[in-house]
Amino acid sequence: MTASVEGVGLGLRHDLAKELLERRPEEVRWVEIHPENYVARGGRFQLNLEQAMERWPIVTHGLTCGVGTTQPFDPAYTRQLRELLERVGAPFHSEHLCFGGIDDTFLHDLLPLPFNRESVKTAAARARELRDAIERPVAIENISYYADPLDPGGWTEPDFLLEVLDAADAKLLLDVNNIYVNSINHGFDPRPYIDRIPRDRVVQIHVAGHFTGDDGVIIDTHGEDICEGVYELLAYTIARLGRVPVLLERDQNFPTLDHLLEEVRRLGAIYERGVAAFEAEHAA
Ligand SMILES: [Fe+2]
Repeated sequence: MTASVEGVGLGLRHDLAKELLERRPEEVRWVEIHPENYVARGGRFQLNLEQAMERWPIVTHGLTCGVGTTQPFDPAYTRQLRELLERVGAPFHSEHLCFGGIDDTFLHDLLPLPFNRESVKTAAARARELRDAIERPVAIENISYYADPLDPGGWTEPDFLLEVLDAADAKLLLDVNNIYVNSINHGFDPRPYIDRIPRDRVVQIHVAGHFTGDDGVIIDTHGEDICEGVYELLAYTIARLGRVPVLLERDQNFPTLDHLLEEVRRLGAIYERGVAAFEAEHAA
């Protein structure tokens, strides 16, 4: 399946796969996979992937090659990753702007980088290394963070992100929920952040639900329904960026597939309205 990735997609997660692959709902226009679930794994995972490939374009999103890591990536893994991306016809591959380990210890978390020149250098080197290894464009995803990594030098999150994208010459996977979460927890207006995003860098958008604690801190769980604030920020983003495919990320606390498809349809309606607004403005 090499059709282009457009509209709203859904993550092909293990808990959803059986019903999703049986029903093949038409409102889901493409699916995203985590390559770590398929590299060097056989059995049901490969069967699911084959079935998904018959029905949908596939986009890949990694969890283990955060571009902020100081160590080079394992060449055996990136070779297998390249083979998988080739097989599924992935148009690009995304990883996070974070580090996940140090000194051969992997922490299974997306840890933020200090917003400084040294981090930019590291992230750009890793992103270029990955792009060369997989022979495809790399998209870097902005993350949510809870400790404020603001550098005394004074860079804000978008300052840092844009420096990395330029230095790496990379694409952007814009996670609108992560910007929303950070804007609440760290007290900034998310719209001027979105206004600064260069359209030609953005290849995909993520939206998700998050958990709100009694103290008002919100945690990026991907385990709740999308909130109104994120729908509104997505509408603003699409009207500004135009036709960028949107993924609903749901990774835990799964509701029924019908419930998720309701969210997908609502996202689809926001997407179509946003694209129409963008095209009307740019046709003028
Ligand atoms: Fe995301």
